[in-house]
Amino acid sequence: MNPKIVDAKDATGLEKAAGILAAGGVVAFPTETVYGLGADVFNPRAVARIFEIKKRPAFDPLIVHVADPGDTKKLWKDIPPLAEKLMRGFWPGPLTLVLSKQVEVPDIVTAGLSTVGVRMPRHPAALGLIRRFGKPVAAPSANIFGRTSPTSAEAVAEQLADAPDLILDGGRTEVGVESTVLKIEGDRCVLLRPGGVTVEELSQWVRVEAPASSGEAAPESPGRMKSHYAPETPFYLMGVAPGEFVKTLTRVKDRCLSEGRAWPRIGCLLFQKHPADGVFAEQSVLSARGDLREAASTLFDAMRKLDKMKLDLIIAEDIPESGLGLAIMDRLRKAASGRKATMEIFEHGAHEQKK
Ligand code: TXA
Ligand code: MG
Repeated sequence: MNPKIVDAKDATGLEKAAGILAAGGVVAFPTETVYGLGADVFNPRAVARIFEIKKRPAFDPLIVHVADPGDTKKLWKDIPPLAEKLMRGFWPGPLTLVLSKQVEVPDIVTAGLSTVGVRMPRHPAALGLIRRFGKPVAAPSANIFGRTSPTSAEAVAEQLADAPDLILDGGRTEVGVESTVLKIEGDRCVLLRPGGVTVEELSQWVRVEAPASSGEAAPESPGRMKSHYAPETPFYLMGVAPGEFVKTLTRVKDRCLSEGRAWPRIGCLLFQKHPADGVFAEQSVLSARGDLREAASTLFDAMRKLDKMKLDLIIAEDIPESGLGLAIMDRLRKAASGRKATMEIFEHGAHEQKK
């Protein structure tokens, strides 16, 4: 057990964490989406430690967390009615709004951008921490850059060991995927990252636009990079329905074995059902009842578990892209760097070339 893990329900733990932030330290804490790695937003040296611990490139901006919508005045230059409306509708909750920043927000937080992303989380421990500290907290997800985001205190400790000064344990996170990132430009809302608040929910309040093109949006929102959330085991998307995939794969396996070649150990990440099969060494179902909420909350955990099983490769079923399915598929696509499984990777040992 990592000695730096303390119970977030314990008031002395929160008090200690707030003291560490005030002294320029770094604290991992639970939010309703994933765990964050937090520091005082107005202390560039403390924020620099977040980048160091995460091995995060300096071009990737952080999200700032507040405990009250009024605190955004310290961070945003002006707050258009559209932002007010979205804050009323979705805060506290998994929606990050990106708007022009106040000069006081250090460049290191925003990676030199003139805008800053802010959200009010709804996890009581996150709110308790920010309130006790008394200032906004800059916090990216508490993982090594490019890897899966932690949804439990143990998952934080697994990736970051004892690098954070303290890890507040608030149990497993509820949503399981990160917040939706929405950029507000005048009266336009541009979706920079799908997440815990769905486009369908947002659309009841505002019209949501897709970024003009991925090429244009890439430098603007580095979280949109093609490869991210990646396990160490080679990871691919199925690209077709599991039944059809297994049928083809079974033929390939039979041929491999009849020719005396070894069959790889394949892990399979499925949405709802295990297809009957003899081709996978391991299967993991995200939600047996086909509930996207449950699937989102178990996604990163399932990816981490498969990753630890020393498999040759992992194949993920494509998830229907509605509701939270949009955010789940975004994470799966990035974990696979957009690659679909072709039969060659099973036949010719391409799985042996690690990424
Ligand atoms: O749910 C979440 O959002 C979690 C929890 C801890 O709050 N945080 C999180 O942060 O996922 P992070 O750093 O892993 O992702 C932040 C992403 C950046 O990679 C970028 O895509 C986007 O948010 N972002 C932040 N500030 C931005 C800005 N000023 N302009 C455009 N995109 C921004
Ligand atoms: Mg992240």
